[in-house]
Amino acid sequence: MSEDGNEELLDIDTMSEIGPATKTSLRQAGFKTIKDIVIRGPTDIAEATGIAMDKCTTMCNRAREILEEIGVFDKPFITANQIYEKRKSEYRIPTGSKNFDELLGGGIETRAITELYGEFGTGKTQICHTLCVTVQQNEKHGNLSKALYVDTENTFRPERISDIASARKIDPSIALENVIVAKAYNFSHQEVIIQESPGIINLHNIKIMIVDSIVSHYRAEFIGRSVLAERQQRINRLLHILLRIAETCKIAVVITNQIQSSPDAIFGDPNKPTGGNVMAHTSTYRLYLKKAGKNRIARMVDSPYHSEREILFALNDQGIGDPQK
Ligand SMILES: Nc1ncnc2c1ncn2[C@@H]1O[C@H](COP(=O)(O)OP(=O)(O)OP(=O)(O)O)[C@@H](O)[C@H]1O
Ligand SMILES: [Mg+2]
Repeated sequence: MSEDGNEELLDIDTMSEIGPATKTSLRQAGFKTIKDIVIRGPTDIAEATGIAMDKCTTMCNRAREILEEIGVFDKPFITANQIYEKRKSEYRIPTGSKNFDELLGGGIETRAITELYGEFGTGKTQICHTLCVTVQQNEKHGNLSKALYVDTENTFRPERISDIASARKIDPSIALENVIVAKAYNFSHQEVIIQESPGIINLHNIKIMIVDSIVSHYRAEFIGRSVLAERQQRINRLLHILLRIAETCKIAVVITNQIQSSPDAIFGDPNKPTGGNVMAHTSTYRLYLKKAGKNRIARMVDSPYHSEREILFALNDQGIGDPQK
């Protein structure tokens, strides 16, 4: 079975270790493929289906082994060199700005979560719109690569996609066709959309999934200290699902985050991203966006291999680009 082989072969029916009654329970709860099982994990499956936790753990371990056997995941205990060679060939999505690409080491990385946070008007939504178009500009994948945009703030605008595509010499109607949009009306709707997204990702050859923004519904709907723990728990679970989607479906996940001001901060920048430690630990790359007159600054604040540095980029008719000299 090849990695990009027939997705039907990944149907849960192919798992001989699972009995028919369990398969029915899984299907009724929306788990259709081996990838779904790996993405959601044992706790989620147990909760959604009522199947015993130890059975779910065994099932998830076996599902993971199958994905290792067909090459979706690396086998355990491989050399750093093998990982290095694989990473070099992995697909990165250009941002539209040379400076920004250089900051990221060549573009937005697939199989990772990239978080953009910053004040209002710093360009988070503009970057997200631009990525919907630049993902289609990859020579290797042609215009077959699509974007999935989860809009939680009602700021997705097809007109902007159309304008950015025209400025980048892509037929706007094709560009618009290649962007799948899901509008989330509240936090639980957002969770359902993200849980159901793997099916859409495989069906449409999605290469980037955007969630703009990840936290706004949680901030609006979980108010006060008494519900803080539940809020954090839900965000944590959602982020881990997103991370597993990125790894299993080999796509880039970009999330935007708001900031909160800590008025008690005596030194340094009082602006902090929301979501606390949960967010900080799960995002693979975190970029802080700031205004700099007409231009914008992007600062890499957390990365497993980049140093903390910043670059300038501009918001323009092409979405984002480099500032004029
Ligand atoms: N067509 C355009 N050309 C150039 N700049 C634009 C264009 N459309 C919007 N902008 C600029 O983009 C900025 C808004 O950026 P954006 O909507 O990405 O902010 P954001 O970081 O998502 O903010 P929020 O936190 O409110 O969601 C504004 O300064 C606006 O002038
Ligand atoms: Mg925005």
